[in-house]
Amino acid sequence: MNKEIKTDLTIEQKVESLLSQMTLDEKIGQMTQVRHFDDITIADIKTKFIGSIIHTPGPTPGTDAAEWQAKFVQLQWLALSTRLGIPMFFGVDAVHGQNTYAGATIFPHNIGLGAARNSKLVESAAAITALEARATGFNWVFSPCVAIPYNEKWGRVYEAFSESTEITTELTKASVRGHQGGLDQQVSLIATAKHFIGDGSTDFGVEGGNTTLSQEEVMERLLPPYRAAIEAGVGSVMASFNSLNGVPMHAYRAMITDVLKGSLKFEGIVVSDWKAYSRFGGTDVINAGVDVVMAVEGDFNMYVEGVRNGVLNGVISQERIDDAVRRILRQKFRIGLFDNPFPDLRLISKIGIQAHRDVARQAVRESLVLLKNENNVLPLKKDAKIALVGEFGNNSGLQSGGWTVNWQGMTENYAGATTILEGLRKFSSQDVLYDADGSADYDSVDVAVIVVGETPYAEFMGDIGGVMNKYQLTLTPEHQMLVDKYTAKGIKTVVVLISGRPLVVTKQLEQVDAFVAAWFPGSEGEGIAEVLFGDYDFKGKLPHSWPKSEEDYQGKYGPNFWDRTIEPLFPLGFGLSYQKGI
Ligand code: BGC
Repeated sequence: MNKEIKTDLTIEQKVESLLSQMTLDEKIGQMTQVRHFDDITIADIKTKFIGSIIHTPGPTPGTDAAEWQAKFVQLQWLALSTRLGIPMFFGVDAVHGQNTYAGATIFPHNIGLGAARNSKLVESAAAITALEARATGFNWVFSPCVAIPYNEKWGRVYEAFSESTEITTELTKASVRGHQGGLDQQVSLIATAKHFIGDGSTDFGVEGGNTTLSQEEVMERLLPPYRAAIEAGVGSVMASFNSLNGVPMHAYRAMITDVLKGSLKFEGIVVSDWKAYSRFGGTDVINAGVDVVMAVEGDFNMYVEGVRNGVLNGVISQERIDDAVRRILRQKFRIGLFDNPFPDLRLISKIGIQAHRDVARQAVRESLVLLKNENNVLPLKKDAKIALVGEFGNNSGLQSGGWTVNWQGMTENYAGATTILEGLRKFSSQDVLYDADGSADYDSVDVAVIVVGETPYAEFMGDIGGVMNKYQLTLTPEHQMLVDKYTAKGIKTVVVLISGRPLVVTKQLEQVDAFVAAWFPGSEGEGIAEVLFGDYDFKGKLPHSWPKSEEDYQGKYGPNFWDRTIEPLFPLGFGLSYQKGI
């Protein structure tokens, strides 16, 4: 704790007092975010006065949460041993639970929460995520993503709640409240509304592409979730990779400084996205109003030197630097970091506990959207002879999407999770058969539950028709084969679709008796089985309009653009239930 700061001062007074003692290098250090395993040596934390560390998948800080905490304690001591002893933030992409830690509770991705449309549930999920993030040593979470996707080709559709501004705004408020606590509560961690602004509405759904919208459209359609996040007290906002009408968002001063910090009165930290300094024009990024830069993967020296020279040459004003540092210190004081710089060992026992998994399971149940149910196929009878078909039905990695343990997610099971097959077996009174790839060819079953979907992806890797071009708007041939094979037998069929976005499944909907959109449910696969068996009803409503054909995607925005002329197959808000009939 810095001895110069009297404890009875207000946060603003403490900020000013500290700021007045800082050298330029100490200020630039506060504005720097690095990974602890590249670019810098551990010693740099001290000599360069590093202000925050981001942990991303890569070398893990340890084998268990105690080791993770210990690693961050070790790094924090280095920060505390600097002249002014300013503690560091530790940030993480905990976007559906503390998903970088195998063993944490993993919630459905935001698209599923958008289908559940239950603010209280979103708040609880966020509170649990924050707690498990703190238990693994973090005090800054880069979530929620408050994008409003207009095109299902975008590889990040699932990180966002909905194509609807209203739903997104309501759930954003709940998420920020859950992460940080109510405005009247002691905040222990800050959340991040991201990515400011236009990330989900780029032309053709390209990650980091250009968004072509009028200023009025941006204000009316995309800004409301940010306003809600700020009103709820969000600690940070992340700038976006995309450009807006040709201007890179990271260098868009009118939007970051005039709109976000000016009109919206945001007092928190504007953090850059990955390597923004080299990608978006160096000092322009700082001058636009970005306060903390992710100076990673080779950017660190260039960034620190660039900002220092920028100030010395008059390209960056001293006021701009002071504004950035004020915002950073304000949030550090706000979460009590100067008094409590270390993670709490007692929280470790809370990671992945049953009470947390119960909330995640509720979220899974409520996120499921029933698109078709004919011939009394659902609910499944507990004594029916069931075959579970498809690998996605027995693999917790595949059911969870990207940002699960690894950046791109996993294709194998991970610690603590349950699969759909495990759930069916738990609740059925019969032996549930399993046909992973269609080769078992079971004939004498009452019903086949066929689980198909999208292999996990994250960011640009998941764009359809993008640089990787690995994904498609409809089922893969292998998954289509599973549907064809079992429908041809004349037995009843239920399809459960695991996907990060609506896919074009018009033909498959005709082929099968029942169809469930399950999004990326996360660690609690059992929640799906409970609803299929009718122990709970379907509650989910589509958070996106559902496209009917691949041709619908010819336009710039895709079928879900709000000003659409194309009729969807199912409208936003559609969803059947047992109660209300088929
Ligand atoms: C993503 C952000 C994320 C950051 C840090 C970027 O590539 O766009 O959403 O927070 O990486 O991992």
